[in-house]
Amino acid sequence: MSGGETSAPTQRDLAAQWLADARAWLEPELAAAFAELDHAPPRLVEAMAYATLDGGKRLRPALVRLACHWNGGNDEDARGPAIAVECIHAYSLVHDDLPCMDDDAWRRGRPSCHAAFGEALALLAADALQSLAFEYVARAPRGNVSSLVRTLASAVGARGMVGGQVLDMALTGAAASGLGEVTRMQAMKTGALIAASARLGAEAAGAPARRCDQVEAWGAALGRCFQAIDDVLDVTADRASLGKTPGKDAAQRKPTLVAALGLEGARAYAAEQAEAAQTLARDLGGPFAATALGFGALLLDRRS
Ligand code: IPE
Ligand code: IPE
Ligand code: MG
Ligand code: MG
Ligand code: MG
Repeated sequence: MSGGETSAPTQRDLAAQWLADARAWLEPELAAAFAELDHAPPRLVEAMAYATLDGGKRLRPALVRLACHWNGGNDEDARGPAIAVECIHAYSLVHDDLPCMDDDAWRRGRPSCHAAFGEALALLAADALQSLAFEYVARAPRGNVSSLVRTLASAVGARGMVGGQVLDMALTGAAASGLGEVTRMQAMKTGALIAASARLGAEAAGAPARRCDQVEAWGAALGRCFQAIDDVLDVTADRASLGKTPGKDAAQRKPTLVAALGLEGARAYAAEQAEAAQTLARDLGGPFAATALGFGALLLDRRS
């Protein structure tokens, strides 16, 4: 490039910019949510804030915000559900790292919550983050609050994230799991919350049910891509870029896509899912479709 010319941003650039902007938008909102907990035990709020602030890519809130704007909503509509999904995500990470689960003392480039605050407080901080999430998902001025609450609850509970974590634990250490078992478990433990983030954004904008279903399907494809790359990065990335302990999946004989398909197979699966997400975003159309299309490429080549 010369003479000050700039090339048009790619769809991936648009998605990367959206993610960065969403992060900048969300950080003070999250901080304010903890500042409001003024009559709660300070050490509990400290542990909740520690688990949630200062780190994380903020993918799920970025998807809430994008799906909301994509469907005619604004930041005010997206704020509550965006805070909610990040609180749920942070809670899931605190529990995931506990010694009785993945036993990881390192998260987001520092000691994980239980390593910093002890197991009992970490467990309770995660519980309180879950409750806080339901306070915030209900704060959506244009959305149907009972739908928003149902969407979040079903993504998180026994048929969603928690159910998927149970399947993950059940398959850990077992003989190599089949592809079907692994993809089902991943769709629950990780995909459900990512798909719900997209749906919540559309719901918060007051989009019709059919449109919400389509946006959710886009999020589900992104979720499949996302966990496939998480499994790949556990093998290929270093501790500094990952911010968590690499190499743990093989050491703990985790049911990953890499275990089921090999490294190249897992990468190919992720690429297929990114492609599927792009097709769904293209079909949805509209002014934010280019940014939504870029999320496939962004999640596929992420390094952290
Ligand atoms: C990690 O999620 C846990 C999975 C569901 C794979 P992220 O990679 O989004 O973690 P942060 O929020 O960026 O730390
Ligand atoms: C975690 O999957 C999924 C949830 C937290 C629900 P992983 O166990 O692979 O996540 P990391 O690699 O520890 O972040
Ligand atoms: Mg885990
Ligand atoms: Mg883990
Ligand atoms: Mg992982």
